[in-house]
Amino acid sequence: MNIGILASHNGSNLQAIIDATVANDLSSKVVVVISNNSNSGAISKAKNANIPFKHLSGVTHGNPDQLDDAILYELKTNNCDIIFLAGYMKKLGPKTLTYYQGKIYNTHPALLPKFGGKGMYGKNVHNAVILANEKITGITIHLVDKNYDTGKIVAQTSVTVLPNDTPNSLCNRVMDKERKLVVETIKKLETLINE
Ligand code: GRF
Repeated sequence: MNIGILASHNGSNLQAIIDATVANDLSSKVVVVISNNSNSGAISKAKNANIPFKHLSGVTHGNPDQLDDAILYELKTNNCDIIFLAGYMKKLGPKTLTYYQGKIYNTHPALLPKFGGKGMYGKNVHNAVILANEKITGITIHLVDKNYDTGKIVAQTSVTVLPNDTPNSLCNRVMDKERKLVVETIKKLETLINE
């Protein structure tokens, strides 16, 4: 599969996918990385791996409709079969969502439907998990629809919340497992597509 990645931040999940493709653990290829943040680690990681990348955001396209067109154009031009949102902080536009319906996946650092929705990202999620006294949290990979974190769940794995966890320590353990789940899930999708 040709994978298009959208990412806003550090890109550690992107790096895990790249590493798995280089190691032939995945037969897929990352064909383009799109970031709304021109200084993101995700863009540096794409550069280092010689993967085409593009900065597309409200800065490059002030009109949301044109931004949607530009994102869809990049994904189509690079022949993406599936799209993976690896820490992407923006909502996709209706044209991209419709064209790639059922083929866009997101990873979320909690066990949805708990701790999802607007504002639930990064440390906010882990903070909320600790404040709610949860004993178990985890990671969810789900299909993307027009709302935040509501699409069909395709994979989940759990992580124990330790009594002395801080949002940082919990985040680190969740992210360790997240990278593995992301790669495992893409591998399962490869199998499904080849059946
Ligand atoms: C991940 O924990 C992901 O679940 C969330 O944002 C984080 C991205 O991290 N949506 P990175 O940019 O892949 O390092």
